[in-house]
Amino acid sequence: MKNIPVVMIIFGGSGDLAHRKLYPALFNLYEQGLIHDDFAVIATARRPWSHDYLREQISDAIHETHAEVNENDVHDFASHFYYQSHDVTNVEHYQTLKKLAQDLNDRYSAEGNRIFYMAMAPRFFGTIATHINDQHLTSTGFNRIVVEKPFGHDLASAEKLNKQINASFKEDDVFRIDHYLGKEMVQNILPLRFTNPLIKNIWNTATIKNIQVTLSEQLGVEARGGYYETSGALRDMVQNHIFQIITLLAMPQPQNLEAASIHAAKQELLDSLLIPTKEEVMQHFVRGQYLGTDNTFGYRQEANVADNSLTETYVAGEIKFAKGPVAGVPLYFRTGKEMKEKKSRIDVVLKHQSNPYGSVHSNNLTIEIDPQMCIYLTINGKKITEPGIRREKLAYSFSKEELAQVPDGYERLLRDVFVNDSTNFTHWSELKRYWQFIDAVENVWAEDNQSAQPQMSEYLPYRMGPKAANHIFESATEHWIYE
Ligand code: BG6
Repeated sequence: MKNIPVVMIIFGGSGDLAHRKLYPALFNLYEQGLIHDDFAVIATARRPWSHDYLREQISDAIHETHAEVNENDVHDFASHFYYQSHDVTNVEHYQTLKKLAQDLNDRYSAEGNRIFYMAMAPRFFGTIATHINDQHLTSTGFNRIVVEKPFGHDLASAEKLNKQINASFKEDDVFRIDHYLGKEMVQNILPLRFTNPLIKNIWNTATIKNIQVTLSEQLGVEARGGYYETSGALRDMVQNHIFQIITLLAMPQPQNLEAASIHAAKQELLDSLLIPTKEEVMQHFVRGQYLGTDNTFGYRQEANVADNSLTETYVAGEIKFAKGPVAGVPLYFRTGKEMKEKKSRIDVVLKHQSNPYGSVHSNNLTIEIDPQMCIYLTINGKKITEPGIRREKLAYSFSKEELAQVPDGYERLLRDVFVNDSTNFTHWSELKRYWQFIDAVENVWAEDNQSAQPQMSEYLPYRMGPKAANHIFESATEHWIYE
């Protein structure tokens, strides 16, 4: 593999994301030779760490995520890391950072290539982008920037942030991370849809009744109550992960697999995204909050959460497109904290067709993303000893060895940043459409919050969420497949 010379600057270098995801992923890329001799990483954060202390942290992060490692490799890898105590609002600190980046560029022959990574609290993204620009931190080689979610809080703030970033980086150099796009089974959606005539030929409005996307989590908001209060499930999970999954499920076939073609096909679909009216939001969307039990807090009792909070920890709703292979087909989604189990899955429900056996189930195609990874088709056949029809599953699964080979999403996506492949990142024009949709729903809710009885369902923890979500469907014959 070609070694890519670069100086990488991570804002938020002492944080949880860097420790749990970025450092282990970078180590794997190092072990594969993608970055090797000619790279340096500057980790910045406010704390007064030393280079040595950072390197100890790097070593810990690798040991925590790898069963077996070569200690010399860990040591060599960590020696490429430098710590810079940095206050993102202090202009002078950017000058110090710039000087360090230049020195390391020369020391490591990094050819003027620079990758910036915003891995800290999103409220600082705009400030960092502004100072990267006004303090001229970009260099003479390639300059790329990776931006964590959330990218804005609504369309207006996302537009503002985008402008601040675009002052130094053109769209092709902006990598907006959605870690769901690095997941094996999410990356499997397009090959599944387009390489199997069996599936490709049924992927249309005539055959598909509805599609259901469930991203349920067992954990509550934990220590993130403060952030969550400003977000809620719709912004936290639907604006990005659920929308990206649904886009992959509904987009037309791209002309080829180049990033530009994939984004063009996504855009063609998103141009026809139907923005819900107030009536549609009231009818086809449900928001909820988890209640407490004897042993657990309800959402309103969590730390940094208002005791009259109207922030949703659960949302179910509907997305539709006017064009594309599944034009007019309802794409239902739901996501929530403190649900029965951790489960990310997609169910594609086929319409019934008349048959001489009477009332039998139709077929469902299920794609399990997490924690299992598999695809199965529920099909009918005859019962063995008695008359009638039974249901069985045709499954596509992975061996233990194959599962062990699946890289972490962050490793995949970081590799893509190094090799300049933006296929699995969110393009600005996609993000804009997602925000338009989310803003429409949020506006209806904001208005509803002023009413005497806002529509906020409560739900018992560790079950399937609010009962009201069973009534969001367009027709009486529809229901959630995964219960
Ligand atoms: C993040 C959300 O983007 O995704 C979290 O901010 C959520 O609230 C997480 O827990 C879920 O990701 P995964 O990969 O565990 O399904």
